[in-house]
Amino acid sequence: MATVTAARVAATAMSVRTDGPAPHGRVVGPSRTVRARPRRALAEERDVSPSASRPGDRPRTLGWGRKRGAVGPDEALLEDPDTHGYCVYSHADWSYAYKSVAGEFDSVRDGGNVEGTIPAELIGGVLYRNGPGLFERGGREYNHMLDGDGYVLRFEFVDARTARFASKFVRTEEFAAEESAEDVLYRGTFGTMRTGGPLRNALDLHQKNLANTNILAWGGKVYALYEAGRPVELDPETLETIGEDDLDGRVNKGMFVSVGAGKKVESALGIGGKAFTAHPHVDPNTGRVVAWGWTSAVAARSVDATFWEWDGDWREVASTEYSMSGCEAAPHDFAVTNSWYVMVQNCLRVDPLMYLAGVKGAGECLVSQPEDPVTVHLIPRRDAGFDGGADRSGRTAVRAAGPKESFEIHVAFAHDGPPISEGDESIGDGAMSEWVTFYTAGW
Ligand SMILES: [Fe+2]
Repeated sequence: MATVTAARVAATAMSVRTDGPAPHGRVVGPSRTVRARPRRALAEERDVSPSASRPGDRPRTLGWGRKRGAVGPDEALLEDPDTHGYCVYSHADWSYAYKSVAGEFDSVRDGGNVEGTIPAELIGGVLYRNGPGLFERGGREYNHMLDGDGYVLRFEFVDARTARFASKFVRTEEFAAEESAEDVLYRGTFGTMRTGGPLRNALDLHQKNLANTNILAWGGKVYALYEAGRPVELDPETLETIGEDDLDGRVNKGMFVSVGAGKKVESALGIGGKAFTAHPHVDPNTGRVVAWGWTSAVAARSVDATFWEWDGDWREVASTEYSMSGCEAAPHDFAVTNSWYVMVQNCLRVDPLMYLAGVKGAGECLVSQPEDPVTVHLIPRRDAGFDGGADRSGRTAVRAAGPKESFEIHVAFAHDGPPISEGDESIGDGAMSEWVTFYTAGW
């Protein structure tokens, strides 16, 4: 009888002490010594074999982080319908995530087609989702799942018994060109190459805007997002692609690398542009959406970021410039507290030779350096709506060394103050201003 090893789930919590107030008026400052205290908790592994269950029970797989595991298609576990949906999965099932979708849809389910009742809180609302949906073109399979073309879903909850579902590909200019040619004309971040081999890919720095990572509905607009490109605006009702948006000049066109050659030269070379994060966050305290754009300054070996905060009508209410020196690969996600933007910079070096040679994708040229600690960045919010914002409170940027052998993608949660579980009942104002706590997940 087979035994399935449960996946080990790693969650990291870190807290950073901000080391007291800094000189007034400095929004972006140099590195400062701070204390970072990593606390890594590994979920326990448990036996999820059928023999571990009592007769007649569902396999004991319930519970986030307790027992999860992949099983082969012949596992007896899969013969029990009660197993499905309880953290046991088969690779055969998951392989469907790598299959291109069958097309675009628009349908209404009502009356007899609806099981149960749509919750009242959802009625009148719309849920958008986005992800890679096409994994081949012209008979060629893309190199990686994350190189799949963006495919957006729209669920509209009309009334208690009526829901409308629609889906469409994000038709960027690149997608339309490839669709028309029925050929792979652009390079993807994770190694998908133009048809024709290295000679047709060498020195082509352009990467396709896949628009496949996230979707933002805010202030009457809907954007498909990809962190290595500009936001692509969609019609909120029809999902028709309107096109890449420069957000009123904030994210200019061109590859998001700069060699310091000046705007005109770089524009002629098709570089010097700005990419926009795939993970904007809504701050419920201020009613703003917070996001950032970035350019990789190759010569200076830094990632230069601009943070923006917009109100519900897309009026900019704050912006902050910040340079991550020594950073070669931009962080994927960030978090927003009352006082700070929080970022975790992984220990990644970029070895661009094989990318320039047209042999590898940019994502395949990242080199991990686990012997070095990750870097935590705390960037003060300007005009954050709390205690006058960073300008008046005198906060300055903080860099802190995090754990080694760590790789962080998403920031799950962050707040001002010490870890709640470690603080006593009465956390003073001092501690609230001196500490930032954030939680990340391995993926
Ligand atoms: Fe993400």
